[in-house]
Amino acid sequence: MAPEIAKDIFLVGINNPDGRDFHGISTPRGGSYNSYLIKDEKPTLIDATNTKFTEKYLESLRSIINPEKIKYIIINHAENDHTGAIVDIKKACPNAKIVCTKKCMEFVKAAFNLQAEFIITEEVNSINIGQRNINFIIQPMIHWPETMMTYIKEDKILFSCDLFGTEISHESIFADEMQPFVELTRDYFTAVMRPFAFSVIKAIEKIKDLELKILAPSHGPVYRKNINSIIEYYKKLATEPEENKVMILYYSIWEDTEKIAQRIKENLSKQNKNVVMYNIYNSNWVELMAQSLTSKVLVVGSLTIISDYHPLFNAFFSYIKWNNQKNKKVFAYGTYGWVSASTNKLASKLTELEYDVIDILDLRFGPVTSEDYKKIDTFSNKILSIIDD
Ligand code: FEO
Repeated sequence: MAPEIAKDIFLVGINNPDGRDFHGISTPRGGSYNSYLIKDEKPTLIDATNTKFTEKYLESLRSIINPEKIKYIIINHAENDHTGAIVDIKKACPNAKIVCTKKCMEFVKAAFNLQAEFIITEEVNSINIGQRNINFIIQPMIHWPETMMTYIKEDKILFSCDLFGTEISHESIFADEMQPFVELTRDYFTAVMRPFAFSVIKAIEKIKDLELKILAPSHGPVYRKNINSIIEYYKKLATEPEENKVMILYYSIWEDTEKIAQRIKENLSKQNKNVVMYNIYNSNWVELMAQSLTSKVLVVGSLTIISDYHPLFNAFFSYIKWNNQKNKKVFAYGTYGWVSASTNKLASKLTELEYDVIDILDLRFGPVTSEDYKKIDTFSNKILSIIDD
């Protein structure tokens, strides 16, 4: 039986504890694709699921209602995780009208050839389903151009779809009953929302005067306590995500750049600074973006290979560019054997990406002599002087 999150409002979506990847995000605690059923005079569904889970979804729905009784299916967002199965779900709900934005109608017709009677939210603003009025808060780019949120004043519930989501399975339905998951929220935000931070800010502004007893996103747990904490965390990630943290990102073949990374990390850690360190070769790209987003200082190091830095960094640079990360203080270092190249090219690329390159360090064959280690220590002290600010 699908759980009831408020009187006559049921969570009928999919819990997927075995999912380990979503949108490029590593999801060690699984995922969830929430959909909600409101049992009223005109039963209404909010969001759906994707094709992988159609049968499981319909089973959950049928545990509380005959789908033929459903009168409205509200689509907050046309992306496949919420609407991939919409044609089959609509078939199971033959008496339902589809309620969505004009752009969303265009998308679901184009993506799924959905044949249905549509109610366009720009034209109605709200619909009455019996005891409740369902209100629509249209905000494009709270992931895609067609997105909106749905609010029920009578229950003081906001269904925010991707916004305020976390990709995590329902260890419990409610956030206040779950173990902390802030890093998963950070990673989800970075991959899904960060490129559209400007829309997140607009959406938060639009909902700021709403009375909220429950916040029900379409990914992760439902919020019924400290609702403001998730809203404020999203706001922070959209506006001032940096913590007093240093991220070291390197690539190494013969351990030279790795030894430098280790020495810098030791130097900073001795001063009790918060340092995270990654080898770009075997790291999840969303985690790298999330860590760089939330770091005050970046330290980037590569060996020289074919007169350049390692090409893996080009992917990282593309990611941070579309993630709209710039104006961060950065230190570039590198090693070389035949001819010096990687350090200056890293610095040049980072400058082009509108990062503030504070200093560089270039060592031939890596740290070999005590003089080399002194240079690394001096370099570390410059990093410390930034993080101490
Ligand atoms: Fe959860 Fe943008 O889809």
